[in-house]
Amino acid sequence: MDKLTLRDLELAGKRVLVRVDFNVPTGENGEITDDRRIREALPTIQELARRGAKVIACSHFGRPKGKVVEEYRLDRVARRLSELLGQAVMKVNDCVGEEPKRAIAAMKPGEVLLLENVRFYPEEEQNDPHFARELASLADVYVNDAFGAAHRAHASTAGVAAYLPAAAGLLLERELRILGEALENPARPFVTLLGGKKVEDKIGVIDNLLGKVDALLVGGGMAFTFLKAQGYDVGKSLVDEARLDYARRCLEEAGRRRVRLLLPVDVVVAREISDDAPAQVVAANAIPEGWMGLDIGPRTAENFAAEICGARTVIWNGPVGVFEVEAFSAGTLAMCQALSQVEGTTIVGGGDTAAAVEHFGFADKVTHISTGGGASLEFLEGKELPGVAALSPRPAAQSGR
Ligand code: 3PG
Repeated sequence: MDKLTLRDLELAGKRVLVRVDFNVPTGENGEITDDRRIREALPTIQELARRGAKVIACSHFGRPKGKVVEEYRLDRVARRLSELLGQAVMKVNDCVGEEPKRAIAAMKPGEVLLLENVRFYPEEEQNDPHFARELASLADVYVNDAFGAAHRAHASTAGVAAYLPAAAGLLLERELRILGEALENPARPFVTLLGGKKVEDKIGVIDNLLGKVDALLVGGGMAFTFLKAQGYDVGKSLVDEARLDYARRCLEEAGRRRVRLLLPVDVVVAREISDDAPAQVVAANAIPEGWMGLDIGPRTAENFAAEICGARTVIWNGPVGVFEVEAFSAGTLAMCQALSQVEGTTIVGGGDTAAAVEHFGFADKVTHISTGGGASLEFLEGKELPGVAALSPRPAAQSGR
């Protein structure tokens, strides 16, 4: 890594502003329904505390649009962080100004403080330099461990790095290493499985990966645009009419590059998305009028699983069916099972795919579940992430370590 890391820093007694992504999913009453992002940030926080830093954590939470919104306060997150750390976590009601300054002045080395949601200020998303400087004034060093927000050029993810020595945290480093190795130097065969609803969301990833993978498997709602592009009638299935040409070009390009591009050969169809709706398995080229495809069928699952099980590197982004509804969950479950059998590196993109892997109990059977949804997609698209680009370069003598 050519950026400053925790290993390069002298931390004892230093005030360290660590940007984490505590944007966790919550239930109806605001309870945290999945604390993976908090758990994944623990190693960095613990390492900073162990080395005698005053740990000042900051995060966004939801999209409060630059205003104080009570339901987006970080108090619950602070309590969960404290439980997971097994140590007290102080929480202040602002992220800049007098209240945090006083609290930080009273901190002892090894203590942890959580600032209030940075998105309560419009200046955060505007990447306002004055706001970034205000944040920076709270600390001596900045550490970015928020891989999930590294695709945002905001004040706390990028702007602040202009005013302090700025290093990558352990989670950020790990995400970049694992995803980067898969893209740059994958053990082969290298297979990518894409699903989810929209072709639009995956275009950049397909464009970047077609030149790298041995096989590309396409399931989920996005597959129907490809099936229709091949001239099949797909009934009421989700189709992105504006992307039919793209899908056609993509199929041709895969052929030219000798990439095996696998589409569903059978699908589970129903008239509506409900467990009670009658469902049937039909050939992908024979979807009846008025029915829609909601999962890959058993033959497709077998085909995909065969590719996955024979691979040495697998990246999976996007469920292959509506896995939240049992009647349409078998395909996604089969993909989890296939991934768990791979002798090699298996990487699951964040968001819905991570939720699916958790849901079926396979979270500890894959090499890496990314904490980034949008960030992991942008990384797979080959884009530079602003939160990474902004970090301080590593002194020349040390790089390569
Ligand atoms: C995410 O959940 O993908 C990150 O926390 C970024 O959140 P955002 O899409 O609201 O910027």
